Amino acid sequence: MSDKAILEYEGSRYEFPVIKGTEDELAIDIKTLRATTGMVTIDPGYKNTGSCESAITFLDGEKGILRYRGYSIEELAEKADFLEVAYLLIFGELPNKEQLAKFHHDIKEESHVDEEMKKILDGFPKAAHPMGVLSSLTSALIAFNPSSVDVSSESAMYSSIVRILAKFPVLVAWTMRKKKGLPLDYGDDTLGYVENIHKMMFKRPNQEYKKDPIAIEALDKLLILHADHEQNCSTSTVRIVGSSHAGLFASLSAGISALWGPLHGGANQAVLEMLEAIEADGGDTKKYMAKAKDKDDPFRLMGFGHRVYKNFDPRAKIIKKSADDVLGNLGIEDPILEIAKGLEKEALEDQYFVDRKLYPNVDFYSGIIYRALGIPTEMFTVMFALGRLPGWIAQWREMRLRKEPIGRPRQIYIGENLRDFVPLEKR
Ligand code: ACO
Repeated sequence: MSDKAILEYEGSRYEFPVIKGTEDELAIDIKTLRATTGMVTIDPGYKNTGSCESAITFLDGEKGILRYRGYSIEELAEKADFLEVAYLLIFGELPNKEQLAKFHHDIKEESHVDEEMKKILDGFPKAAHPMGVLSSLTSALIAFNPSSVDVSSESAMYSSIVRILAKFPVLVAWTMRKKKGLPLDYGDDTLGYVENIHKMMFKRPNQEYKKDPIAIEALDKLLILHADHEQNCSTSTVRIVGSSHAGLFASLSAGISALWGPLHGGANQAVLEMLEAIEADGGDTKKYMAKAKDKDDPFRLMGFGHRVYKNFDPRAKIIKKSADDVLGNLGIEDPILEIAKGLEKEALEDQYFVDRKLYPNVDFYSGIIYRALGIPTEMFTVMFALGRLPGWIAQWREMRLRKEPIGRPRQIYIGENLRDFVPLEKR
């Protein structure tokens, strides 16, 4: 096989190296394209563009494979816990007992959030969307931790990482507690990382916190399944903002905003709202299938389709089973789960969806579990952000350690050519 790609244009011939990843993916390396040909490439939505080389997550959308640092998502979801997965993603290897204990200890040391931050949260109306609040609070955190921007040494970088892993769950919990009208509280350092998150979110002011192993296990699994997904919209945002050396927290704040959109992480909220609307409309799934296929109707079947997965989304498979287990264990019968299953069945047999390779994605069933756990619908994307945090950190760290250049795409200008200025009175 040739390791060069040839480009011929107007009688000239240019050669570009072809590079191969560890899973045999091929890419044409066009770093010298503009310098040698004067041309750029154009690829809206970056459907064919690799923005970086990365050793963190591998996914094969045709085969439905997802691996973090070489470990299959199925095995991690079954055998690891979220903190181990966070360590794996960020540092590249599964931690041994001592490494994990130190990591957790270092996180716990940073688990306070400046009390002044409560005033910022207080300034938001109760109806504010939690994703906007979370993005703002993450950015505001920089003011209270200005040294987090300097990551010039390995220890400074480590310190920024453990700080945000410690404080972010507090912000998540506060965001939800404000929505629910509950007092803002701190966690308990004697608890596990996810257990503590659960406590911070759900502890009632007038009751002892009771451990809820079913809820904690479900939460842990969901967080693992969301932890990384290579160069998606929010991760690319984190990397590109970080490439200007804006700092980890600012990059994450931008990533949260990117995740908010309904075409990305915001789909989990949109799915549940869609399922509720179908239920309220009498549960007629066929009507909504028809709407999804009608090109004159903007309605899309939320939680279906994926830019990369064209066979199945392995995360959706695990989450579907988990939804059955969690609801069963909690003794909840949710008619919305039945509507979701009905929609999935119909879509999988429908030529429109088959032809376009549209399958349920990670967001299709996750909301049903969040709802069963007592998490408000508007918080679903915040939970996604909580899960994605280690992935964003790992990707940002990799980008900084590889000393990647500032992200700055080119364009093809299609506007007016040079023209004379017309004074206001003559326009
Ligand atoms: N319902 C109905 N039709 C759909 C859907 C859907 N959910 N998704 C894609 N299609 C159709 C499109 O209309 C298009 O049809 P056409 O070829 O006849 O024009 C075709 O399938 C291809 O769709 P694109 O939008 O071009 O695919 P793209 O890769 O750009 O988009 C995306 C992927 C954004 C996920 C899309 O499938 C979608 O909007 N899904 C619903 C929202 C959603 O669930 N997002 C979460 C994604 S997972 C995540 O980010 C965590």
